[in-house]
Amino acid sequence: MEMNKEWIKNPEIFKMNRDDPKASLKYYKNKEEMEHEKSSFKILLNGVWKFEYAESLEKSNDEFFKVDYDCTTWNDINVPGHLQLQGYGKPMYVNQIYPWSASEEIIPGEIPLHNPVGHYVKYIDINDEMLKNDIKICFHGVESAFALWINGKFVGYSEDSFTPSTFDISQYVKAGKNKIAVQVYRFSSGSWLEDQDFWRFSGIFRDVELLLVPLTHLDDLKVITKLNDDYTKAVVHLDLDIIGQNSDSEITVSLYDKKQLIASETVEQTGKQKLHFCVDQPQLWSSENPHLYQIIIEITENGKTIEVVQQNVGIREFQIIDGLMCINGKRIVFHGVNRHEFSPRTGRVISYEETKKDLLIMKESNINALRTSHYPNQAFVYDLCDELGLYVIDEVNLETHGTWSEFFDREHILPNNNLKWLDNILDRANSMYERDKNHPSILIWSLGNESYGGEVIYQESQFLRKKDQTRLIHYEGIFYDRSYPDTSDIESQMYTPAVDVEKFITEHPEKPFILCEYAHAMGNSNGALYKYTDLEKKYPLYQGGFIWDFVDQALEDKDGILRYGGDFKDRPSDYDFCGNGIVFADRTLTPKMQEVKYCYQYIHMDIDEDNIRITNNNLFTNLNKYTFFIQLFQAGQLVEEITQIIDLEPENSYLLKNPFTVEDRATQYHILITVKDQNNHAVAHEQFIYECHKKEEYAHLDITIVEDYLNIGIIGENFQAKFSKAKGLTSYKVNDEEMIRVMPRPNFFRASTNNDVENKYGYRYSQWLPASLYAKIKFMKVIKDKQKCQIYFEYQLPNLGDETVNLVYTIFGDGEIVLDMDYQPNEKYIEMPAFGMMFQLYKEYNHVEYFGFGPEENYIDRNSGAILGKYNYDVKDNMTKYLYPQECGNRTNVQAIKISNGKHDLYIRGNVEFSALPYTPFEIENARHIDELPNIYQTVLCIYEKQMGIAGDNTWGAKTHDEFLLSNKDKHYLHFSLKGR
Ligand code: GAL
Ligand code: MG
Repeated sequence: MEMNKEWIKNPEIFKMNRDDPKASLKYYKNKEEMEHEKSSFKILLNGVWKFEYAESLEKSNDEFFKVDYDCTTWNDINVPGHLQLQGYGKPMYVNQIYPWSASEEIIPGEIPLHNPVGHYVKYIDINDEMLKNDIKICFHGVESAFALWINGKFVGYSEDSFTPSTFDISQYVKAGKNKIAVQVYRFSSGSWLEDQDFWRFSGIFRDVELLLVPLTHLDDLKVITKLNDDYTKAVVHLDLDIIGQNSDSEITVSLYDKKQLIASETVEQTGKQKLHFCVDQPQLWSSENPHLYQIIIEITENGKTIEVVQQNVGIREFQIIDGLMCINGKRIVFHGVNRHEFSPRTGRVISYEETKKDLLIMKESNINALRTSHYPNQAFVYDLCDELGLYVIDEVNLETHGTWSEFFDREHILPNNNLKWLDNILDRANSMYERDKNHPSILIWSLGNESYGGEVIYQESQFLRKKDQTRLIHYEGIFYDRSYPDTSDIESQMYTPAVDVEKFITEHPEKPFILCEYAHAMGNSNGALYKYTDLEKKYPLYQGGFIWDFVDQALEDKDGILRYGGDFKDRPSDYDFCGNGIVFADRTLTPKMQEVKYCYQYIHMDIDEDNIRITNNNLFTNLNKYTFFIQLFQAGQLVEEITQIIDLEPENSYLLKNPFTVEDRATQYHILITVKDQNNHAVAHEQFIYECHKKEEYAHLDITIVEDYLNIGIIGENFQAKFSKAKGLTSYKVNDEEMIRVMPRPNFFRASTNNDVENKYGYRYSQWLPASLYAKIKFMKVIKDKQKCQIYFEYQLPNLGDETVNLVYTIFGDGEIVLDMDYQPNEKYIEMPAFGMMFQLYKEYNHVEYFGFGPEENYIDRNSGAILGKYNYDVKDNMTKYLYPQECGNRTNVQAIKISNGKHDLYIRGNVEFSALPYTPFEIENARHIDELPNIYQTVLCIYEKQMGIAGDNTWGAKTHDEFLLSNKDKHYLHFSLKGR
């Protein structure tokens, strides 16, 4: 048979001569190999291949696979790798639309004319020893379709970018040099099913392996575990498929718990075999205790080992009990994230080490679940989830978002009821299922993402249900078309605000509810996350959600800067919509993680003056494996610490007497409880802040006031302040050091966050921008005293009513300046985004120490995870490296700030929010990328009574929740003091 290019555009042809998918098993030649995890059966063909690129199918090379076609002069390319990151075409980022949008008008099934083709060639040596085996080749991921030739002969064709394609090539290979030739098509009919919101690439982007298969061989294995009613007895069922005829072979199957043998059986026949082992008092697998047993299957021939297979087994039960999803009999709550496999240098080519790092970050951040959005990940991801303990929703590589948006011709919705696509989609589901079926971590199969409803996906659900009764089926897309409501076992929604979730679950108790995506973490986001995690405590039916998403999909440019869509001159683009991670592309944690980790913690503590109520929300873990550090702080200084072990069974509460008594109300006291594991890693915390009525005291020292028609000077010991009557504070000199660079002024504007941009913040709040830039002093007055001087300014705001902003500076004899600013808003106008003052200081004032909420940036709707304490930062580092520069670096509940140039310090006292950044909000507003910001020339200190919350339910319109806005009815007051030294 020859390759037929018509297949590429025919949705009914998606494979040719490809092997049926099998469980991803670890094969070794003998036990030594197994011990060292090094298999001689597997020869990695990664590395340098020869490569030729063609702009289109028409221009593709149809001779290159021939044995005597010389490819040695071709360029080199790396496998695995995307073509677009190796100089062929450019990386393109689009969300819903198909990449050919605005270039070619085609309907589902058709493929664009601009369809670049990659020609890959690799020569490999095969020896006689190898030829004693069957020989297969496995491509773990090729986007979007490819054809394979070995030694000039056509072997096969395959689609589905994200599952392995294995071909038996025994009949094509020979001893000596062999030519492997692969033609990769950027677009195929399958591309219509791969419209995920991600970077659009093509090429061989996952491992390629040559597999040596002994003639007697475990071809497939299926493991399922069953438990009795009280989980004290388990049965491990094995379905083995052994191929080969040799009558001298013996197959020994053993079950181990670590090194200890539990049971063993020998089979003397090949073919399909069923076995089971009983385990008494099994250690159950869960994310809290990911205990794994091992199955080892050894095939011998005439007493000699020829193949050893190792398979981890987790004994667990996942099912719906009384309407709720339960793991080992207990109601599960998913503290999940969605994750794209993505690395800033290599795109979706991501190594085991990088992956492990991601999953460890999840574990450390109290994340217990992963949705492999939106395709089956590399096989080792699931091994790691089994080992580390992460619940997985494994998702079929299917998304047709661009076919059913409201602007698209409804008749072309894919797949809907169009049975022409059924086999293609079942094949995708099957490849995922068969490869991944033995992983205890996978609890749920997801039928795909955003592919509408209809019969085809319903059939897909039935297909998987029939194959697997030990897991549940998830599909969110029926939200848009409920014609086949049984498609999903779970009610799954995306981005539903917490109040609407509450309403839905009270009206629809039929299915357990999850949010497969929520809390859109784009830029400075994740406001009011706690509203969702509060729901899980109130409503059993709400079983958690998966944050969108784990890591920014940003690509590092040659200059080291992280870039987003459009930056590679790729158009159309959805620009920085690819950056929604709670982790930055370089894997440093974003400040959002502070909140996520807190909201996701499993130990809940309620502290008041008398008691500490501790609730253990783990399902299987006694708290006695942790240590509680209970600390009392006075004005931020630790004064007492008690450590305690608390023996508390899962799902139980305990009332502990508050060990501290605090009577002094003139100093700020607070309690912090930190719960740590054996590695000193904090797993949970809670704080309690005592009420405090600090008395403000000011100096009684004489001052000198010098006034003329333009300026006023206030002179005291070691300081002098100067005001321009028309413009404000022009100078504050302490110990001969001038601290004011630009006159401070009221500020009401914050640079737009991504959420702001999309909820039309700029448009809605527009008058507050000129109000901040162009407020005008309308009136001023001076009140002189022997020991203090008060200077009033009244500011008039453009485009607003007559209400003035009143700012009073009170200068005391020791140089302390108290600022009082108030404003009575007019209900006719939208509330201010922020109410505060901006100081533009000399850039040498670049180090900040403060007592307030931290350590990471926080906002009134994202500060539950923040901890009251003393922190410090360098101003340049406070510019959070969001892909798109935006409001950042704020701290709430701040009582004291010191900003220093190394020699001199400016002290601020008050009860404020603040940020110190190298840029003004206006400069930040003007920049679309980090490198568009000016060189640092100043320190911008903003001190706010309050700034509105940052929102986060989604980044396509969701606004800051009402309670986190500034009032436009009540009067606003800002009160703090400055003192230089
Ligand atoms: C969802 C989609 C994700 C992503 C997200 C927005 O609708 O499933 O893939 O596009 O929105 O960032
Ligand atoms: Mg989508």
